[in-house]
Amino acid sequence: MEGKKENILISKEEIEKKVAELGSRISKEYEGKNLYVLSLLRGSFIFAADLVRHITVPTKIGFMTTSSYGHSEVSTGSVKIVNDIPDNIEGFDVLIVDDIVDTGITMDFVVNHVKSLGASSVNCCVLLDKPERRKVDITPNYCCFQIPDVFVVGYGLNYGDYYRNVPYIFNWEEK
Ligand code: IMP
Ligand code: MG
Repeated sequence: MEGKKENILISKEEIEKKVAELGSRISKEYEGKNLYVLSLLRGSFIFAADLVRHITVPTKIGFMTTSSYGHSEVSTGSVKIVNDIPDNIEGFDVLIVDDIVDTGITMDFVVNHVKSLGASSVNCCVLLDKPERRKVDITPNYCCFQIPDVFVVGYGLNYGDYYRNVPYIFNWEEK
């Protein structure tokens, strides 16, 4: 990103605090349930890995890959399953975990897919929510931070498949 400088929006410490809080809230609300955490790859791998370590109730964990933005910042509007859920989730209380709800198209698609497979309940949990960009009517049940309409990277979120490993959330601004 030539001629631009990094602008940290959410620090590593802020993320750690929120993720821990969310993990204990989920642990309380899923007490006595049949939790299945479904992490959407690749964007949620870091968030999901941190979150599940704050979940104290028994849980299965599975992964699913949908088609994504690729190297563009704009959604194509169509979602395809690249790798489907590896388990029978019938009767499970599925918590879908993703990095961000932007237009909501991905989350809406996965919610419907999970329902069609006979889950007992379906909730969504995201690190970030960009409500201004919504195209379908969906509100995450659990969310760490709401952000304005800016393209962000770090903590699993990518640009051209880079920056996922950065431990905080940032964008670029003019120098
Ligand atoms: P949606 O289907 O438009 O809600 O987009 C969901 C996916 O788009 C997320 O899982 C991300 O992979 C990607 N995405 C949306 N906004 C951003 C962003 O600001 N930075 C990086 N990826 C994003
Ligand atoms: Mg994604």
